[in-house]
Amino acid sequence: MAKRKRRPPRVRTDVPVSDPPVRLGLVSPMRTVPATIARPPYVTLPGGEPGPSVSSPIRTADELARMRKAGAVGAEILLEVGREVAPGVSTEKLDQIAHEAHVVRGAYPSPLGYRGYPKSVCTSVNEVICHGIPDSRQLQDGDIVNIDVTAYIDGVHGDTSVTLLVGDVDDHSRTLVRETRRALELAIDEVGPGVPFNAIGRAIETHARRFDLGVVRDFIGHGVGTEFHTSLQIPHYYERTFTLPMQEGMSFTIEPMLTLGEIGVHIWDDAWTAVTSDGRRTAQFEHTMVVAADGVEVLTRTSGGSCAHEELAEALA
Ligand code: MF3
Ligand code: CO
Ligand code: CO
Repeated sequence: MAKRKRRPPRVRTDVPVSDPPVRLGLVSPMRTVPATIARPPYVTLPGGEPGPSVSSPIRTADELARMRKAGAVGAEILLEVGREVAPGVSTEKLDQIAHEAHVVRGAYPSPLGYRGYPKSVCTSVNEVICHGIPDSRQLQDGDIVNIDVTAYIDGVHGDTSVTLLVGDVDDHSRTLVRETRRALELAIDEVGPGVPFNAIGRAIETHARRFDLGVVRDFIGHGVGTEFHTSLQIPHYYERTFTLPMQEGMSFTIEPMLTLGEIGVHIWDDAWTAVTSDGRRTAQFEHTMVVAADGVEVLTRTSGGSCAHEELAEALA
């Protein structure tokens, strides 16, 4: 049998490294949530550790009804925060807006206290892949920033993120953001009952390759419902052996992180902030969805059907 030729490792060096690099800023004290708002169980466990996932991958009708609400709330909050993105605004300020937007809706910001995470939202700037902690750093003209909101309400989570442009952004970064969003859409289009799960990663990787973009492998999508992260794993790259068929009622995220350069990850000393190993930029978009009888239902949209991807990132299309 002929040996399959190995694709040489993808090394791209024509895109400049993001400069200046993002540095750790000052992180303000943890915010509080009124005791009347129900917390996810991990918040009161040691270290905020959720422990092993025990929930079914498939939602009951009642859970699904609650997830529609949590998804809509997450989408509303993401829109509210996204509208405030502008040069000079600190990520700390975005966290404050996100926090208050949860509280007024009776929702708990799922990141706050999750495994010790100190803030209510993740803000990931330029070469930060994900899990950026809001701090005193002000957004600069030319930055790109991902805002990742997860809202917990009525016992379930809605998880969604968007990458937005700050002022006048270079062409490489604009392509990165536009095509990362497109990769998510193409992946969502694959979802339906009976479809093997690896169709998701295949769609993303195929699209990324067309634009010479990397696909991060160290962070993946996940089952989501009564638990923030279930044991269901959704890689964003093609995994030949992951042929498990999707079933109606399965709820999960797709959240591709694409890069302008290498796909390696480095974690800062804060134990959260994940940056690209080569310092080149990266973008991410995320939706929570459920497999429907005839395809897919995206849950992280407002009751009017809108989302930050379309309202705030549409100008990029
Ligand atoms: N929202 C992220 C996700 O998409 C998880 C953030 S965990 C946190 O899965 F602790 F960093 F907030
Ligand atoms: Co997620
Ligand atoms: Co998220």
